[in-house]
Amino acid sequence: MEDKYRALLRHRLSEKTRLHSLGVGRMARELALAQGLSGEEGFTAGILHDYAREMGEGSLLSEAGRLGLPVDPVMRIHPILLHGSVGAELVRKELGVEDPEILEAIRCHTVGGQGIGPLARIVYAADILEPSRDFPGVEELRRTLQEDFTRGLIQVVESTINYVLRQRYLLHPATVDFWNELMGEEKK
Ligand SMILES: [Fe+2]
Ligand SMILES: [Fe+2]
Repeated sequence: MEDKYRALLRHRLSEKTRLHSLGVGRMARELALAQGLSGEEGFTAGILHDYAREMGEGSLLSEAGRLGLPVDPVMRIHPILLHGSVGAELVRKELGVEDPEILEAIRCHTVGGQGIGPLARIVYAADILEPSRDFPGVEELRRTLQEDFTRGLIQVVESTINYVLRQRYLLHPATVDFWNELMGEEKK
């Protein structure tokens, strides 16, 4: 199965993003199995999550329009965020992937969201922590995720929000909702 998807991505993604995607696929498979979910679904969602990552912002906007996908005000300013929803729709149309959990994981990996399922949470975390990612504190985050998935995910969302604020990017409301949901779960 790995070979099938690797071949598919060869025409769409640079070597660096393909390596990243394979890392996310493999990590998502492990995390899915650890949570009693399908490893195959985890792998598929992970390896395909960045299907639209290298389309360019102009193409993402026009493709979102063509596909009838919503473009909210934050995505209008940061069109790169659209590679989640555009990617999910292209994977459905071009590759025939219909599994709603896989499509949700691809769609939501850029901003997260309230009420997203376990597979989408896994891909969100694996996207940031797969083995080719390298930033200060990544090892610690990986360890935390291994010990306690939700605690690790919270730290991943926290570090993403910190990054967005430091860069003075717009913070997407879905990420705020995601954070609030996780905090609500932690405080239960
Ligand atoms: Fe991405
Ligand atoms: Fe990614």
